[in-house]
Amino acid sequence: MAYESDATVEMPPVTDWVNDWDWLDPQWGANAIDIWNSVREQCPVATTERYGRALMPVTMEAVQQIAHDTEHYSSIFVSVARPDAPRRPAPPITSDPPDHHGHRRLLLPAFSPKQIAPMEDDLREFCRGLIADLDGADRADAAEQYSQHIPVHGICRLLGVPESDADMFRDWIFRNFQLAPRDNNVKLQLMEEMAIYGSRMIEERLAEPDDDLLTLIAHAEIDGEPVDHDLKLGYIFLMIVAGIDTTWSAIGSGLWHFAQHADQRARLVAADDDDLLWQTATEEVLRYYAPVTMGRRVVKDTEVSGCPVHAGDQTLVTFPAANHDPAAFEDADEFLIDRAHNRHVAFGLGIHRCLGSNLARLELTVALQEWLRAFPDYELDGGAETTWANGQVRGPRNIPVLLNR
Ligand code: HEM
Repeated sequence: MAYESDATVEMPPVTDWVNDWDWLDPQWGANAIDIWNSVREQCPVATTERYGRALMPVTMEAVQQIAHDTEHYSSIFVSVARPDAPRRPAPPITSDPPDHHGHRRLLLPAFSPKQIAPMEDDLREFCRGLIADLDGADRADAAEQYSQHIPVHGICRLLGVPESDADMFRDWIFRNFQLAPRDNNVKLQLMEEMAIYGSRMIEERLAEPDDDLLTLIAHAEIDGEPVDHDLKLGYIFLMIVAGIDTTWSAIGSGLWHFAQHADQRARLVAADDDDLLWQTATEEVLRYYAPVTMGRRVVKDTEVSGCPVHAGDQTLVTFPAANHDPAAFEDADEFLIDRAHNRHVAFGLGIHRCLGSNLARLELTVALQEWLRAFPDYELDGGAETTWANGQVRGPRNIPVLLNR
């Protein structure tokens, strides 16, 4: 297939986050929390014209209202991108009621605690293997050599795709989140590559079924009707895109945070694996560094927190910003590892609430436990820079550390 020339649109740096926000601006990755806090002091909903008209709510109230309102806000597009961006359906995340329910019900059993809990020993062993690979080193990149590998391992096990394809998945994720929102060619090319890969995987499982999610997808039926091939490709695409970058970002954020807080590290290292402190610390990482911001397309005029919203507009569902709203959390800007009441929305709200939250929580807790036990005195390598991913999934991509073993 030939692609029309459709060069990436270059944008000037943002100087006004209330009227001209941009989640692909280089300032976003490292500074998003400060940006949301500063916008919230001025208004509950920021706007931009960079992707057509698009909103950015920053309060818990506005985010909750949008996430629960499937009448005015559609999930048909779940990113804020060029208005003419090509669409690849990836249900249930890209579907609205009534279709959404059947897709979600189909995939749900694969993510139940009964399916996920038994993965713990294998995940722990995998983390220990990554740590063993650092034998003899006095410094490391905690993202490149550790956090990015763990969710790929988890998803490959659950879905049943080969782990040797990990580099390709990471390349897809980078192009999908960092480049595609502004460049339709990137999206089209990506859709083609994924369709070829997914079709091959489906064919393999139709010929030879196994005990994995890919087999369930290959044979998927809803209410006795076979699911379209294109939607099956969408399921596979969603598992890879939703299951890897998200948790990798959460693990990386946790490692980055604890590298700078020796007192919190010491408390965690002294706690047993099943101590409540590990649970509260994991939830606080998810609240404070929530990696995932979603999008919606407005399908009917309405208003949110006094801001008029028109059919055709796009909006972010800025779950991470809601997690820093002082109206929703006491001491919202403090990271408290023993925070008792923590009703964060890192996994979303309403009908699209994250299907993979059990797996994500397990991977995050195990990854932090194994790393902190192995390197209780690790710290950021002051001479090297941490880099952060922008946009839909925000998290550190390089975390240079001194292991101080
Ligand atoms: C820390 C890690 C993760 C975070 C923060 C996260 C966050 C989210 C959020 C905010 C949503 C809501 C989407 C919306 O409202 O449009 C969502 C949905 C979803 N997530 Fe996750 N996620 C994580 C890990 C995972 C993992 C490991 C998987 C496994 C494949 C996964 C699979 C899904 C799926 C399938 C949906 C769509 C559910 C639906 O539309 O009914 N996520 N996630």
